[in-house]
Amino acid sequence: MAADSAASFGLLHRVCKLVVLLCLLHISVTVVFYVRSLDIRFAFVQNQQSHNITQPNQVLTNDFPSRTDPKGAESYKGAPTEVQQRDQEDEPKPPEQKTEEPVKKLEKCPETSPLLVGPLRVDFNTPVDLEQIKKENPAVRHGGRFRPRDCKAQQKVAIIIPFRKRDEHLRYWLYYLHPILQRQQLDYGVYVINQDGDEIFNRAKLLNVGYVEALKEYDYECFVFSDVDLIPMDDRNTYKCFSQPRHLSVSMDKFGFRLPYNQYFGGVSSMSKDQYLKINGFPNNYWGWGGEDDDIYNRLASKGMSISRPSGEQGKCRMIRHQRDKKNEPNPQRFDRIAHTRQTMAKDGINSLSYEVVKIEKFDLFTKITVDVGKP
Ligand code: BGC
Repeated sequence: MAADSAASFGLLHRVCKLVVLLCLLHISVTVVFYVRSLDIRFAFVQNQQSHNITQPNQVLTNDFPSRTDPKGAESYKGAPTEVQQRDQEDEPKPPEQKTEEPVKKLEKCPETSPLLVGPLRVDFNTPVDLEQIKKENPAVRHGGRFRPRDCKAQQKVAIIIPFRKRDEHLRYWLYYLHPILQRQQLDYGVYVINQDGDEIFNRAKLLNVGYVEALKEYDYECFVFSDVDLIPMDDRNTYKCFSQPRHLSVSMDKFGFRLPYNQYFGGVSSMSKDQYLKINGFPNNYWGWGGEDDDIYNRLASKGMSISRPSGEQGKCRMIRHQRDKKNEPNPQRFDRIAHTRQTMAKDGINSLSYEVVKIEKFDLFTKITVDVGKP
């Protein structure tokens, strides 16, 4: 009997020891897994933060200056500040990091962007749609505004596009140009200046309007004037300003990839504010196709400026083929007008510009300003 109870006590003792050992094992396995999960979560948060800070081509902030327009332009009021915006993107984040993180003072972007890739394939065979372009360019802000996230852009550039009924061309322009301009690390905005009504087209006057309207919105220092149907084939052809007025579309497919004549200044050009003001802006009285670009060239030459150009290789571009627009027939007066630029330029230009804004629309990828420019 005593032997029996001693045996069962011994068995019970061994079972208890086994249970205790199993418990210890269980606790240690739990502790190991818990500690490892903490490591992983910490690493994830760190990774998220460094990803958000170093991602190229993204803006830190949406706080572009706003403008209040009597005719209903949407403003950027209430956009988050730089620090707020970054905080929102970084969720989740340990609370102590919020107070410790210094506000990053951005350095100037390099003279030549390191993001450039060189020659590009450009074709117009596949249609593109605005939703797709928007998705592919998440860093472009409302109204077609962008500035680099990691550095302060070398220049603030307004891109002015004279426009009427060329929506398909505009989609291609946005599709190709937004990625290029972001890689060029510019602080830019896209302004489509739409001529209202069906009167005869006036390209140069629309460009003048673009200059004035863009400046109401932001302190732009450089203006790129681009036709809607011209797409650069090399992103090293930077859409910015130089010490002399710049002609950017120097080798178009339409002209066999060369300049049609030495004084040619059509297609895409850029001018700083100073250069533009020195020539009293552009002529307002070239109605219909042709001559206004030659007049602009004459203005520049008469003020002793020369034309800066990229190389033929970097300046290659493609034009979207199209029929001549209605109400933009060749202007028969252009030859006479070009012959008199020196006499007319002081009175006809930015100082005599008059127009009426009909509508300002802020789209995801561009700002469209519809204007009544009158008639001849
Ligand atoms: C016109 C310009 C045009 C050029 C190239 C010239 O005759 O005056 O306006 O850009 O031809 O087509």
